[in-house]
Amino acid sequence: MGIIMAMKTPFTIAHLSDLHLSPAFYPERSMRFRSILSFCVEREVDHIIITGDITNQAKEEEFRHFREILIEHSLLDSSKVSVITGNHDIFGGPHFAEDVLNFPSLCRSTDYRQKLELFYHYTKETFSTAEFFSTNSLFPYLKVIGGIAVVGLNSVAEWHVLKNPIGSNGRISSGQFDCLRTLLKSRILHKKKILIAIHHHFSISELHSEATSLERVWQAIESTTLKLRKKKRLLRLFSKENVTKVLHGHVHTHGTYTKNGIEFINAGATMIPAKNSPQAFHMITVRDGNIETESVTIPSETKSRRKNIITEGHVHITGFHGILPVYPRRTHSLGRKY
Ligand SMILES: [Fe+2]
Ligand SMILES: [Fe+2]
Repeated sequence: MGIIMAMKTPFTIAHLSDLHLSPAFYPERSMRFRSILSFCVEREVDHIIITGDITNQAKEEEFRHFREILIEHSLLDSSKVSVITGNHDIFGGPHFAEDVLNFPSLCRSTDYRQKLELFYHYTKETFSTAEFFSTNSLFPYLKVIGGIAVVGLNSVAEWHVLKNPIGSNGRISSGQFDCLRTLLKSRILHKKKILIAIHHHFSISELHSEATSLERVWQAIESTTLKLRKKKRLLRLFSKENVTKVLHGHVHTHGTYTKNGIEFINAGATMIPAKNSPQAFHMITVRDGNIETESVTIPSETKSRRKNIITEGHVHITGFHGILPVYPRRTHSLGRKY
């Protein structure tokens, strides 16, 4: 496999996450995704990283739909797009309130490896320039883009009756961790800025408690089932090996935070923002060895009616109103966060 050595300056990377595509139930998400991709193409964004929960229910038609949208935008290309798995790409999620009770048994019967193969089958072109470090796993993988090393991880834990009953907890397997440690120490990454792409979050403060009544039912369950296990050992490794930034999603809020001197970038609110979170994604600019992160806010119906309120330091997409269609939010689903 070859490595891309593009050195364009500045080099821009859009960081999206948690698309939760579901053409059968939420076609508006597909429209928004198309609009975001059109924006990226028009702005000549150099690369797009999507940190998991690409699909809502891990159904074959959802993976196929994602692939078709990439093809529509000429983005089914390893030099242009990098993807990793989220828990919804393996286990899906409860769609309605009545699904909650049945969901653990659905997760238990999920064939984890078969879902990973499905994920790869519909995204394989985005891996064609990646380097792999395991004979039996896609993860970790490495791409060098714009002089930056992007390391993709799979943080979706396998089902366990106690440790992962509803599939939403995260864990980097021992085999993957060993490969990652070897990779981060290797000469391949010598003096390179390293971006880690992982689905699960590292800060509990990213969680928030506001919710409607139906959401509260689900949040009560997931409050103990939304964790990245053994994250301290990952953090120590990232810190020791000078990881520059960690890109993630999973929690549907937008923002950045710092841990162990590393900036964590959460694009979880790209599609379904939690309450009090803007709908936004990130734009990462690599310029002269420096990496800057900015927010790109997607106006919601309410916000667009009351004019744009842009947080200082954030970037507003000029003319995005003309690009993005506005749809009313659905309220019957528990899928706002999960
Ligand atoms: Fe998600
Ligand atoms: Fe997730």
